[in-house]
Amino acid sequence: MTDLHIVEGDARDVAAIMPIMESAFDPAFGEAWSAAQCLSLLATPGTSLIAAQSGTGTVGFALTRWIFDEEELLMIGVDRPFQRMGVASALLAHIIRRAKLSNRSRIFLEVRSNNPAQQFYRQYGFEICGIRKGYYKGLNGDRFDAATMALNF
Ligand SMILES: CC(C)(COP(=O)(O)OP(=O)(O)OC[C@H]1O[C@@H](n2cnc3c(N)ncnc32)[C@H](O)[C@@H]1OP(=O)(O)O)[C@@H](O)C(=O)NCCC(=O)NCCS
Repeated sequence: MTDLHIVEGDARDVAAIMPIMESAFDPAFGEAWSAAQCLSLLATPGTSLIAAQSGTGTVGFALTRWIFDEEELLMIGVDRPFQRMGVASALLAHIIRRAKLSNRSRIFLEVRSNNPAQQFYRQYGFEICGIRKGYYKGLNGDRFDAATMALNF
């Protein structure tokens, strides 16, 4: 995508990411956050919202949290019509660059074990470093393991 910009946002961008939250996350897994959850997170020190903007508006976002010398990637989502165009790659490249500049020792995240996003993370050097059994609960009550993945610097 040629007109893609990655920008550091804040709580004022939550309204713009909510339609992406609905579009990107499969409702079967109940993983999308509400606006209230996003706002509550962003009221906490060390958290950030990063937005991917194109000529049509916001097409993707990420939420992160800094804990000691680690950056946690809490969530990354791309509007469905804009997936597989490098939007999440551009967001992640920004997060990795920022983490290195801030001397973080690693970036880590939790991802549902059957989420194809694991392929995306692997592509950028993340490796599984732990499994949490039954960590996620789907809408029909099914439990799914979470893989903890990390990119160490
Ligand atoms: C995962 C997600 C963020 C990827 O966003 P994206 O902008 O489509 O990713 P990119 O275009 O940058 O993909 C880069 C590479 O990652 C890999 N990849 C991305 N999505 C993939 C998928 N669904 N299955 C397998 N590999 C994938 C591919 O190697 C891809 O390169 P290619 O398109 O040339 O094959 C997007 O699919 C999404 O929003 N998913 C729903 C939300 C979610 O589950 N987020 C992760 C947990 S918080």
